[in-house]
Amino acid sequence: MKDKISSLRAQFEEELSIAASLEVLNSLRVGFLGKKGSLTSLLKELGKLSNDERPAMGQELNSLKEFILSSLAEKAKGIEDGLLRRHTAKGAFDFTLPGRTPRAGGKHPITKVMEKIVSIFAGLGFSIAEGPEVETDYYNFEALNIPRNHPSRDMQDTFYVSDEVVLRTHTSPVQIRVMEKQPPPVRIIAPGKVYRCDADVTHSPMFHQIEGLMVDEGINFNHLKAILEIFVHEFFGPKVGIRFRPSYFPFTEPSAEVDIQCVICSGSGCRVCSQTGWLEVLGAGMVDPAVFSFVHYDSEKWTGFAFGIGIERMAMLKYGIDDIRLFYENDLRFLDQFKHEEI
Ligand code: FA5
Repeated sequence: MKDKISSLRAQFEEELSIAASLEVLNSLRVGFLGKKGSLTSLLKELGKLSNDERPAMGQELNSLKEFILSSLAEKAKGIEDGLLRRHTAKGAFDFTLPGRTPRAGGKHPITKVMEKIVSIFAGLGFSIAEGPEVETDYYNFEALNIPRNHPSRDMQDTFYVSDEVVLRTHTSPVQIRVMEKQPPPVRIIAPGKVYRCDADVTHSPMFHQIEGLMVDEGINFNHLKAILEIFVHEFFGPKVGIRFRPSYFPFTEPSAEVDIQCVICSGSGCRVCSQTGWLEVLGAGMVDPAVFSFVHYDSEKWTGFAFGIGIERMAMLKYGIDDIRLFYENDLRFLDQFKHEEI
């Protein structure tokens, strides 16, 4: 037994001296100390020894086991250190660098503005409605009193999916979908994406609107004006300049557009406001009785107002941004500035 132990030790020392990888060290460990390993087999033979011999041999085997374990651990550390040194030499690690802190994201400025506007109208008793972005010609145009070949179709450059299907050009089709489903009174807002073939510093091919619709008995233009003034002052503060301009939409009569004093140039004229000092942020008006007839509302009994707010324009004025395209370039240097901004 004594001879077997010393030749096992010699064998281990030799194999260890040529082991050059962690994988080889592992197979050495299994070969000597595993279930069927050579040292394990010798341990099993202990039982065959006489009572005199057994304690001394047991002790020798145990110390060989300790020796194998500690030698393997020492060699493994040496190999790991060597690997690390080689990586460092290649410049893979610089231990003096500070650790990387995970980058915290933030809400997109358009999302923030959208949520703020929704919360203002929720506070005024409006509930939220939704509609599809891929819309039929009927909801996007026909039922809003914009028949085929009507010149007002040119007001919005449309992306056509097919003759009958479009990417919605505004959130106004949600008005029709809501009124088809529920009888008056109605008080909803409908936020969402809309699409137009349109692109410059204040126009984007995809942008966001929030539609508003209120239908009840006795609703008139004063209510519309009051609601929009409350909204604008809540959003921009009480001092901002606001003006109503007569306008035309086929689905409202009378119609108006609302301009906000340009905060970028304080009204003196710049490229954002096309040198006018004002920027149009929304369209509005009293629901045209022709629209009510599409949804079978009695226009003798019910009146209502509607509006459509351009979210990007509101965000541009709120944050003093002079090019709408900045919102969609995903440049973190731009987006990070809004991370902690409270509206
Ligand atoms: C409309 O879209 C009407 N549906 C609004 C409306 C609703 C009127 C209900 C009456 C009743 P208009 O095309 O003007 O209207 O667009 C409304 C707002 O969307 C504009 O005031 C502007 O703020 C914004 N807007 C329009 N086109 C773009 C664009 N390409 N990029 C960014 N914002 C735009």
